[in-house]
Amino acid sequence: MENDSKPEPKKRIKTYIDGFDDRLGGGIVEGSIVLVAGNAGTMKTSVAYNILYHNVKKVGMKAAYLSLEQDRESLIYHTEGLGLPYDDDISKNLLVLDLSGTRLEVEDFGLRESWTYIIKDIVTKTHERLGLDLLVLDSLNVYETMCGGSKDIRIELFEFFKWIKGLGITCFVISEMSRDSNEFSRHGGDFLADGILHLTLEKVDDVHSHRRIRCVKMRSSNHSTDYFALIFGSSNFRIPIGISDVWK
Ligand SMILES: Nc1ncnc2c1ncn2[C@@H]1O[C@H](COP(=O)(O)OP(=O)(O)OP(=O)(O)O)[C@@H](O)[C@H]1O
Ligand SMILES: [Mg+2]
Repeated sequence: MENDSKPEPKKRIKTYIDGFDDRLGGGIVEGSIVLVAGNAGTMKTSVAYNILYHNVKKVGMKAAYLSLEQDRESLIYHTEGLGLPYDDDISKNLLVLDLSGTRLEVEDFGLRESWTYIIKDIVTKTHERLGLDLLVLDSLNVYETMCGGSKDIRIELFEFFKWIKGLGITCFVISEMSRDSNEFSRHGGDFLADGILHLTLEKVDDVHSHRRIRCVKMRSSNHSTDYFALIFGSSNFRIPIGISDVWK
C-alpha cells in the first residue's frame, strides 16, 4: 500500500520582522543555514542580531553571535542604539563572541591552518555550555579569507557547513556582496546554504533610497520571492502590509 502521509512539519524560527514570517511560510525551518547577504551597510548585522535577540527574549532560545570582524563593544553599541538593550537577562542567553582580535593574532603568527579549528572549538564549547538554538557567523568573507589551509576553499567551506548542519543549530551566515557582482557569496556558499535573505538599499529617485529584503531561497518553504520594503522603527523591523508597498 502506498504511504501518502506527509512528513511532520519542522519547527520554524521566526525572524521577528513583522509581516515577513508569513511570507516565509511561518519562519525559517529549524536547523537551516541561512545566508544574510547584501552590500555594505544594508543592515545585515542588525537583521541577524534582531532575530537572535527576539528569539532569546520572547521564546527563551539560546544564541551566540560570533563576530570575526566588528569588535564586541561597537556591535553592542550599535544594537543598543537600535533599541535592543544588552541587559543582564539577555547577556546570559545571547553571547556576543568577538574573534576580531584572535583573527589578527592568527594572521600575525601564520596560523591560518588552525582557523577553522579555532572557530569549531569556540562553537563546540559554547554549545556544550549553553545548548545553542541559534548562531550567527559574521562574516563569511572573513572566514573564507582566513581559510589559508592546503585544501581548496570550496571543499573547506562544504565541510564547515556540513559540520554546522550536524550540530542542528539554526545558523545565519553574513555575506557581504561586492558592489559589482550579483553573487551572494564568493565560494559557493549560496549553493550550500538552505536559505538566502538578500538585503538591499535601492535608490528610488534623485533624493531617496529605500531598504529592501527578499527571500531568494528557503528550502522546504513555500515562500514569496518578492522584494519588500524593510522598515526599522522603535526597536523592530517590519515590512509593509499593503500590496502597494511591495516592489516586484
Ligand atoms: N539607531 C538606528 N536606527 C536605524 N538605523 C540605524 C541606526 N543605527 C544605524 N543605523 C543604520 O544601520 C546601518 C548599519 O547597520 P549594520 O551594521 O547592521 O549593517 P551591515 O550591513 O552589517 O554593515 P557592514 O557592511 O558595515 O557590516 C547604518 O549604516 C545606518 O544606516
Ligand atoms: Mg555588519
